[in-house]
Amino acid sequence: MAQLVGLIVSENEGFKKQVDRLLRSGPIPVGVTDERIARDGTAPDIVVVDVCGDASSAMSNIERMRGAAPHAGIFAIAQTADPDLILQSMRAGANEFFTWPPIEETFQNAVRRLAARRESTQGARPPATTLVFFGSKGGAGTTTLGVNCAVEVARLSKRSAIILDLKPGLGEVALFLGIRPRFTVLDAVDNLHRLDREFLKELVVKHKSGLDILAGSDQFDRPGAQDAGAFEELFRLLTRQYDYIIIDAGSQINSCTVAALYAADQMFLVANPDVPSVRNAQRLLERVRQLGACGERVRVMLNRAAEPFPIPPKQIESALGHPIHHMFPSDYKTVSTAMNSGVPLSLAGNSDIATQFDAFTRRLLDPTAEVPGAAITKKGLLGLDRIASLW
Ligand SMILES: Nc1ncnc2c1ncn2[C@@H]1O[C@H](COP(=O)(O)OP(=O)(O)O)[C@@H](O)[C@H]1O
Ligand SMILES: [Mg+2]
Repeated sequence: MAQLVGLIVSENEGFKKQVDRLLRSGPIPVGVTDERIARDGTAPDIVVVDVCGDASSAMSNIERMRGAAPHAGIFAIAQTADPDLILQSMRAGANEFFTWPPIEETFQNAVRRLAARRESTQGARPPATTLVFFGSKGGAGTTTLGVNCAVEVARLSKRSAIILDLKPGLGEVALFLGIRPRFTVLDAVDNLHRLDREFLKELVVKHKSGLDILAGSDQFDRPGAQDAGAFEELFRLLTRQYDYIIIDAGSQINSCTVAALYAADQMFLVANPDVPSVRNAQRLLERVRQLGACGERVRVMLNRAAEPFPIPPKQIESALGHPIHHMFPSDYKTVSTAMNSGVPLSLAGNSDIATQFDAFTRRLLDPTAEVPGAAITKKGLLGLDRIASLW
């Protein structure tokens, strides 16, 4: 699913805040820009116009937005469902009409309809997919999972894919892939105004799997809070140039990782089967819910899952209130050899863990595919007894 771009037209801060949350909390990722049309010229897909105040200025706002973004879905939100106001809004160019406060489900259904329409009318290029990996704690294996998944995505899909390292200070993504980068994510966010296909090509390093790498920052205090808006824009720009965008978001929730979570089609929360990791995962899931980044997009990944489990997977699922999407075995020798040599697991020969990456990625690329050997199910472990025998 592509990320949609939302725009809110209102003078009222309370309205803006609530609509921002509503747009970002649905199952479809929506990036919200402010009233100026985005710097990169991206036209909005959804424009939400405040019709709660003066009707005539609201109507001219709708008309103005209809002219500026002829293909956008315009959502009008008014205090009451006054038939005259509905008619006027529709005539001015609105596609949907809601009363304040909009019912969450009705609003999300309208977003879904719009996304479906957009996909069916978009040209041949399928929409980009953004996959974000974040860890329940440092050392959980977020970079290991992100990097190996990214390589598999590039290798198996044969489509364009990029991995981006969000860690402040020296990130490890490039190191894991045996790459010495000349440029970093900071060069991208500091040059957004000229970040076209050619410039981006200069900044990334191509891995032999076909994956592009945008290396982590080389400054200890960046990316920081001041960079969040630029990163949000960068994530959006990348969806125009790549089919898959994989983000190693580390294990700290800050404004840049939040921007990544909002952009994510799927967020992979990486945890280990131990008490600190599960407790942190619980807290992070709670935080993600508070942020309004939709729970439907979260996938829990259990890394270093090996018998005897300090906490059984079923217990982890009930503690988290979320199914485990995939488990990766513990294999320090294989993982650390791959890491130290800068060769991803799938290119380093056969191993159980490489098979799991293959299975995980095939399912990611085609959720309907039958993947032999995959220890996974739609419902997670709770509905699957077979799982215990696999480890
Ligand atoms: N499945 C695994 N089995 C054994 N060791 C692992 C596994 N996944 C990661 N590791 C090891 O754990 C350490 C931390 O991994 P890393 O991916 O850097 O974690 P994070 O990015 O969450 O900090 C590394 O030494 C790595 O080799
Ligand atoms: Mg890491």
